[in-house]
Amino acid sequence: MAITFDQATQTFHLQGKASSYIMQLVSPGYLAHVHWGARVRGTNIGSLLMRRRRCSFSPSTDPNDLSLSLDTLPQEYPAFGGSDFRMPAYQVQTENGATVSELLYASHRIYSGKPKLEGLPATYVESVSEAESLEITLSDAIIGLNVILTYTVYRDMDAIVRSARFVHEGEVPIKLLRALSCSLDLPHAEFEELHLSGTWARERHIERRPLSAGGTVIESRRGSSSHSLNPFIALLSPDADEDHGDVYGFSLVYSGSFLAQAEVDPYGTTRVAMGINPFDFSWLLEPGEQFQTPEAVMVYSAEGLGGMSQTYHRLYRTRLCRGVFRDRHRPILINNWEATYFHFNADKIEALAVEGRKLGLELLVLDDGWFGKRDSDASSLGDWFVDTTKLPGGMADLAERVKAQELAFGLWFEPEMVSPDSELYRAHPDWCLHVPGRRRTEGRKQLVLDFSRRDVQEYIVQALSDILASSPITYVKWDMNRNMTEIGSALLRPARQRETAHRYILGLYDVLERLTTAFPHVLFESCSGGGGRFDPGMLYYMPQTWTSDNTDAVERLKIQYGTSLVYPISTMGAHVSAVPNHQVHRTTPLAMRGHAAMSGNFGYELDLTTIGEDDKELMKRQVALYKELRSLIQFGVFHRLLSPFEGNETAWMFVAEDGKEALVAYFQVLAKPNPPLKKLKLKGLAADRNYLVADPDAPEEPTERWGGDELMGIGIHLPVWKGDLRSRLYRIHMEE
Ligand code: DGJ
Repeated sequence: MAITFDQATQTFHLQGKASSYIMQLVSPGYLAHVHWGARVRGTNIGSLLMRRRRCSFSPSTDPNDLSLSLDTLPQEYPAFGGSDFRMPAYQVQTENGATVSELLYASHRIYSGKPKLEGLPATYVESVSEAESLEITLSDAIIGLNVILTYTVYRDMDAIVRSARFVHEGEVPIKLLRALSCSLDLPHAEFEELHLSGTWARERHIERRPLSAGGTVIESRRGSSSHSLNPFIALLSPDADEDHGDVYGFSLVYSGSFLAQAEVDPYGTTRVAMGINPFDFSWLLEPGEQFQTPEAVMVYSAEGLGGMSQTYHRLYRTRLCRGVFRDRHRPILINNWEATYFHFNADKIEALAVEGRKLGLELLVLDDGWFGKRDSDASSLGDWFVDTTKLPGGMADLAERVKAQELAFGLWFEPEMVSPDSELYRAHPDWCLHVPGRRRTEGRKQLVLDFSRRDVQEYIVQALSDILASSPITYVKWDMNRNMTEIGSALLRPARQRETAHRYILGLYDVLERLTTAFPHVLFESCSGGGGRFDPGMLYYMPQTWTSDNTDAVERLKIQYGTSLVYPISTMGAHVSAVPNHQVHRTTPLAMRGHAAMSGNFGYELDLTTIGEDDKELMKRQVALYKELRSLIQFGVFHRLLSPFEGNETAWMFVAEDGKEALVAYFQVLAKPNPPLKKLKLKGLAADRNYLVADPDAPEEPTERWGGDELMGIGIHLPVWKGDLRSRLYRIHMEE
């Protein structure tokens, strides 16, 4: 790893494990993008940049050098208004109303380590030797604006982490209309674009399509990262697959409305950019003020999507997630939501704990409905005090009763919301996002609290702290069940109203920072109607997310497969629920539900008091097996083998870091008549070692001995099944 600046050629060179990222200053100080991809030594680094000669309709900034056109120069942080017609990375409006700006190089510095981002989640280092950072200051002297671009490159990974900081040193206020986190110009357009799309209960399905002239836009305007489109985009060489080909991934560490865009220009180059969505955004900068963008994590892989995912998994699991639970086994839980919905009492919850103990479960999570007068979703959000008709002894009493069954106790909150039918709303009707005189549109019969306000933040921190301090609670599920409408804040002046959505996210991050710091022994899991806010920003505060409200085993194959493109297995909650499934009404075997859920952070979400004896026996075995396997599953290296988006079968595997242990999960949705005999090639094993392969669900079956070369080069034998909805595990140990 190294970051160097070559004075003679005015070139910056960032080297990752197997990649290079090169930029060059072009007189009079434009920052040009030169290369991102294969690692090079830099022998002729000053000559890498290719410049077009004169192009009609692409104006030149220098009458004596027609090759100098901002419209054709590949750039790092482009402006608009001064001859580049492609989409800009930023746009600033000055006092005279104009939006023309231009940034020229002013200075740079290179140092070990990685800076923190004030008030924002970010990847980090544990020792300064893990990464190097480069700060390049660009200036618009006419406005008095400095933009500091920060780049960090990790020693052992091919990840470049970027952000921008706007420092206003001029004498009159200016307004940022757009302030993206990253932008770069790739030299051609022979790419396919891949993103993760969906909706409630169908999150993060993989979409892939060729780029063509014009723009491809992936964005959220919902005030949260959303079920619909995840803050992630990748560009792939057309031949790229799981294991081969060039892949460029872009992931935003942010939980609000975002934009990711790829634009193919008339000259066949591709501009990719990502950041806070400029739609309905602006930010007033008074003289002396600063604005920090969120960070974008850019990953290059020459080994297809698998290589990209492994870099994201490692970086996000070890250098984005924080706290004592980062490296700890995640507990196997029972959640009462689908067991009882709003209709429970302390005895019922205790009964679930009694059954949970018999199965070997470790945590009981009490979901929605324990507070205020909440017997449906129509009331009480904001009234964070215990409903003593349901829990007559209070929360501490219930937590103790659960603890007496040797299960830890966890609790659900939805802190960002308020029900119009609540004491909180009656006392503070201006505490929600709203625009005076306009309807307050309800979603799930609730309004969004204005988290940009300090008083709202204080109330929520206090209310949650009181509950968490009052009872032995070791887990919190932090839910959020609607998106923003009528985005306005009662406390912001007109010129700052379009800051509301971003200020909300900053307020949310501040609240999360305070609560997770004050309660370090509590495992926080984020949730937004399932995976509506499964993003890197939330993972910085809460190391796991409820992946989806859809717990059907077949649906989960796509959801978990798609999620794994970016997010580590240790971040994905996955539960076995009852059949017929409550979301799609499908009946799948308990074994298959178990195998799908055991491929994430395992748990149950059904009424344990009504389960038959046979199922209970199987559940006991699932729990015992997961306890044996969870280090491997939660912290091993994950490989995708067969895609549910391409056919009837899905397979993935986990390999321990030391290579000594592995687990394969194979699923077949529909049976076929007279199917061909099939083998499945494994990944990540040692070709020169031998392995013992067993079926952990059939201990009576003999263990087989295979070479790593056979397992990877030829493949394990897949079963021939009669009947739909089948699955099996292969447990693999390296022979001593
Ligand atoms: C949505 C979540 O995704 C569910 O798991 C559950 O907690 C409900 N909210 C409760 O209202």
